[in-house]
Amino acid sequence: MKNLEQNIKIFEQELKDALQSATSYEQIEKVRVDFLGRKGKINEIMGQMKSLDLEEKRIFGPKINQLKQISEQLYEEKKKQLEEDQKKIEILKKQNFDVGAYKPTQLRGTLHVITKLVDQLEDIFISMGYQVADGPELETEYYNFDALNIPKDHPSRDSRDTFWFDIPGLLMRTETSAIQIRAMEEQGVPIALVGPGKVYRNEATDASHNFIFGQIEGLMVGKDISMGNLIETIKVFLQRLFNTENLKIRVRTCFFPFVEPGIEFDFSCPFCKTGCSTCKRTKWIELGGAGLVHPNVLKYCKIDPKKYSGFAFGFGIERMAMIKYGISDIRLFHSASIDFLNQF
Ligand code: FA5
Repeated sequence: MKNLEQNIKIFEQELKDALQSATSYEQIEKVRVDFLGRKGKINEIMGQMKSLDLEEKRIFGPKINQLKQISEQLYEEKKKQLEEDQKKIEILKKQNFDVGAYKPTQLRGTLHVITKLVDQLEDIFISMGYQVADGPELETEYYNFDALNIPKDHPSRDSRDTFWFDIPGLLMRTETSAIQIRAMEEQGVPIALVGPGKVYRNEATDASHNFIFGQIEGLMVGKDISMGNLIETIKVFLQRLFNTENLKIRVRTCFFPFVEPGIEFDFSCPFCKTGCSTCKRTKWIELGGAGLVHPNVLKYCKIDPKKYSGFAFGFGIERMAMIKYGISDIRLFHSASIDFLNQF
């Protein structure tokens, strides 16, 4: 009996000490579990009642009940005090917010991976003698379609593919090819340029398609420019970009109204051997289209197709980034995920 009386006193003192030194919710929760929980010390003390005789139980029963009540009260008071302290801290934090207290190493901004890639693409072409040209993202129907020899009834003009404005004849450009036209109109020939930029297409997204994405346009027009010049240029460009001569590339014929003949470049899919969702089970990922500039396009720009010829190409920038960095879902590039961006 003496033992039990002593244990009650020890329990009370230990509980008070533990609550006093607790400074967080986690710590007082631990105190609650250790002292008042199902397997806690209070239940140990209650267990000791079993060995008492009836008279002793009559004395100690109420004492232990009282101990339980006081202990729970002490715990609740401490919890309330912690909550109030926390609120005060939050108010003080807001009142005394100090921007300078944040170390510059915590979250440093860097250039986006696509911006860095565009810089690299420009550098490669500048080193080959090309200029960098630009054009508006909000384009006219003339530059985006008519001057590119795209027929009036071509499906790409449909609003299911193109973001049109309510103002007739205005749209978000669907391809960087409009840059070629503006540059040829302004500068004439000979000309060699690349034009990187964003394009917009009203289409569903998946692992290799976005509705806003980057393209880089290329154009060279002069005397006797041939398909051989085009293939060799692209070969050198890809070797420099990927820093290897072992890229597996496929070239196939393709139709674009603004080139004749037209071809398309595909990368071998680096994400699978037998087909996956990124390559749509084809084992190839489309890089972009190219070809010899159609005589009608030259005529639109007042260049004589009997005297001059040229090549043009338009490649997907995110597609190149996917291959270069091994990213199997294009949507990640614009997901604004810090974890994703920190990799680069
Ligand atoms: C064109 O846009 C042509 N202007 C390319 C061209 C230029 C051909 C000059 C001939 C001469 P295409 O629609 O295939 O073609 O797009 C070119 C590339 O952009 C594709 O091969 C692909 O790499 C990329 N691309 C196309 N659609 C998407 C999309 N929804 N999301 C991401 N990349 C895309």
